[in-house]
Amino acid sequence: MISSNVTTFENEVERFFEENQNALQSNYPGITLRRLDLEFQTYCEKNISRKGEYLDKFLNSLKAGIPLEQITGRAYFYESEFKVNEHVLIPRSETEILVDETCKILSKSEKKELAIADVGTGSGAIALSIARKLSNLDKSIKITGFDISEKALNVAKRNHYLLEYALSQNTSVTWKINDRLDGVKENSFDCIVSNPPYIKTHSDKEKVHHQVLKFEPHIALFIDDEKYDQWFLDFFKQVHLCLKKDGLFYMEGHEDHLELQCNLLNHFEFNEVQIIKDLTGAKRFIKARK
Ligand SMILES: C[S@@+](CC[C@H](N)C(=O)[O-])C[C@H]1O[C@@H](n2cnc3c(N)ncnc32)[C@H](O)[C@@H]1O
Repeated sequence: MISSNVTTFENEVERFFEENQNALQSNYPGITLRRLDLEFQTYCEKNISRKGEYLDKFLNSLKAGIPLEQITGRAYFYESEFKVNEHVLIPRSETEILVDETCKILSKSEKKELAIADVGTGSGAIALSIARKLSNLDKSIKITGFDISEKALNVAKRNHYLLEYALSQNTSVTWKINDRLDGVKENSFDCIVSNPPYIKTHSDKEKVHHQVLKFEPHIALFIDDEKYDQWFLDFFKQVHLCLKKDGLFYMEGHEDHLELQCNLLNHFEFNEVQIIKDLTGAKRFIKARK
């Protein structure tokens, strides 16, 4: 049993850090002792009196390679903190570009009311970040977060509750369990954003980090190779139907498949179809107008 002495806890984390360098760097690339210390403080901040017990749990979770965000139950995205668990994708920093660009474009709209859909909302990170950012505008903002996973939507609803204080009275967010935009009325949205599952189950799997494969929900990541193109073709058809004229579509995707997806989009009457790169220079998003 570990003593309750503060220095001892720090020493234990430091000792673990030094003795498990290879495993730690493989699961948490670039992790530093300072970050590990901070994560431990976060992990046990509400249970200071049970720090010893929490230290054991924390180190065992690290040994198992569980993502830090799942261990602490929180992730930082755009301007907010989000609760996460094993049922949602941990929001990624590259997705912040989608949020930022979308907000910049929508801020320039002359419309007084904007209806926005986030398809595959997961933790609600995109929907709630857009809601928070656009709350500054003198507009009525209605956002709907769609997901096929009820467990993911429960996390989104919790994040909504925790971020409610940051949303203006003119901003509403609702959650809907749904397969993509199945059954949604035509001309419903001024903007549709999405970070859908976009890894091919077989041919892309080798490039996926083993920690992601083991701990993040496969429903958030993968689509069967044989169904992949049809899945997106059906989705783009729904997007075209549900967008209002001039509506904006902004989607994150896999760098190896975005070119083909642009061709699929062109089956419908989209304008200004464009591939956008992320900060590493990799093709990462599709932007289009109806
Ligand atoms: C890559 S994650 C994105 C999560 C979150 N939007 C983000 O960017 O962090 C994809 C999400 O799509 C959801 N999903 C998978 N298939 C879906 C479908 N057919 N219809 C709606 N949502 C789906 C998953 O449950 C998951 O939450």
